[in-house]
Amino acid sequence: MNVCVIGAGSSGIAAAKALHERGFDFDCFEKSDRVGGNWVYKNRNGMSSAYRSLHINTSRERMEFADFAMPKSYPDFPHHTHIAAYFDAYVDHFGFRDRITFQTGVERAAPAADGSWEVTTDDGETRRYGALMVANGHHWDARWPEPAFPGSDVFAGVQLHSHDYVGDDPDFFRGKRVVVLGMGNSAMDIAVESSFSATATYLAARRGAWVIPKYLFGRPLDQIFTLAGVPLWVRTRVMRTLLRIGVGDMRRYGLPQPDHGPLAAHPTVSDDVLSRLAHGEIAPKPNIARLTERTVVFADGSEVEADIVVYCTGYRVTFPFFDPDLISAPGNDLPLFRRVFHPRIPNVFFIGLLQPLGAIMPLAAAQSEWVCDYLSGRYALPAPAALRADMERERAAMFKRYVASKRHTMQVDYDDYLADLAKERRRGAARARANRLR
Ligand SMILES: Cc1cc2nc3c(=O)[nH]c(=O)nc-3n(C[C@H](O)[C@H](O)[C@H](O)COP(=O)(O)OP(=O)(O)OC[C@H]3O[C@@H](n4cnc5c(N)ncnc54)[C@H](O)[C@@H]3O)c2cc1C
Ligand SMILES: NC(=O)c1ccc[n+]([C@@H]2O[C@H](COP(=O)([O-])OP(=O)(O)OC[C@H]3O[C@@H](n4cnc5c(N)ncnc54)[C@H](OP(=O)(O)O)[C@@H]3O)[C@@H](O)[C@H]2O)c1
Repeated sequence: MNVCVIGAGSSGIAAAKALHERGFDFDCFEKSDRVGGNWVYKNRNGMSSAYRSLHINTSRERMEFADFAMPKSYPDFPHHTHIAAYFDAYVDHFGFRDRITFQTGVERAAPAADGSWEVTTDDGETRRYGALMVANGHHWDARWPEPAFPGSDVFAGVQLHSHDYVGDDPDFFRGKRVVVLGMGNSAMDIAVESSFSATATYLAARRGAWVIPKYLFGRPLDQIFTLAGVPLWVRTRVMRTLLRIGVGDMRRYGLPQPDHGPLAAHPTVSDDVLSRLAHGEIAPKPNIARLTERTVVFADGSEVEADIVVYCTGYRVTFPFFDPDLISAPGNDLPLFRRVFHPRIPNVFFIGLLQPLGAIMPLAAAQSEWVCDYLSGRYALPAPAALRADMERERAAMFKRYVASKRHTMQVDYDDYLADLAKERRRGAARARANRLR
């Protein structure tokens, strides 16, 4: 069976490494001239959302691949240049660089009647593959506010999305009045950066967030405990207590009280934003209501003069190479069995298409091993009705737990996901053995 991998970001290289080690015939197509995707600052593919000051917010030990540690000389939360170098080293360490076709984008992938996939690349070639591993990333297609705010067409200042913020011009915010919209990690980082040179920085949000520090008790917070398998209400209570001790009430910083529990939203992690708020260098605001030629008007009726508005409003999950009637993610929602297997379409697998509370990379590696089990006949899927019931159960629990938002359509808990996947691989291996005996 030959396999096509789309993309050589951290998810695509995890897929390629698993295929390489398991002896599969495969091609990996990568638009850029190098691996690393989002972590390649100013990536020539135009798809990286990294800015000059970006550091990871999931700690090094949670992000590194299990079989290839990051150098011990790296700090707990390395810079993007460290991370890009690490992914590069991973490819050389496992020796599969020659299996990646660089500067070659997949333009079209369509299933054939026999279950194989026809893949057309932007050099005009079409090849046939037994299976497709999709690792094109989900943080590159900017989602602007929908609908646009009234007056955004008359605003005379600069409006940009965080995807386009590169942060290489020290004068970009200097002397400007800046409104940053959102309460995710992009908004935190960009508001902090603006606050050091802008005349005024306003952080606008339509809902509050629990701002989680990178460190607690002198250790990266995501390494203090795992709580895998512990009921959600217990975890929530533990997290609430830790945040009460370590951070305190969000309202003390002028931020709105979150309308949800601390584990009911994708984590907003920042050591710096609370300090900049406390120093009065960032002024919190409610959502933007409208813009005028020179000002931004907020939902509480207050109005400020503004030169720059940065929309940190997240990303759209898109697959430009699929016929959207066949595979798409309206509202960022693509239901999959354990975030990998399509419930109806065979031989297409999604790698890294999930939002963990924790890092994506070790999960993408586990997914890739799982797919290799399947492709080599060592794993059999549950019967279709059981698979659909499993998917529905998982989705219902996720949507019940998380704030309704397009950013919460594929949330998983890092340790639980890894444990569940290991369990499912064992179950499927038993099914495969039973099928062979029939
Ligand atoms: C600012 C920012 C900070 C982040 N910080 C963290 C963090 O600290 N920890 C964490 O775990 N996650 C973080 N993330 C999430 C991020 O999605 C992952 O870190 C990681 O980049 C996912 O890797 P990926 O390979 O799935 O996607 P990407 O890194 O986006 O890589 C996708 C690759 O696919 C290629 N590609 C796409 N389409 C095609 C095509 N049609 N043909 C050929 N090649 C194609 C692209 O060129 C790219 O190289 C962050 C995201 C952002 C935006
Ligand atoms: N340092 C780091 O490692 C780092 C830095 C940046 C980003 N990241 C990662 O990159 C991914 C994307 O993060 P992100 O911050 O860019 O996006 P995000 O997590 O999707 O957050 C988007 C924010 O914008 C708000 N929003 C969306 N549409 C809006 C609208 N029309 N009006 C008002 N508010 C709106 C959302 O509010 P609701 O919650 O109400 O929807 C949310 O607060 C995440 O996985 C994040 O962890 C990491």
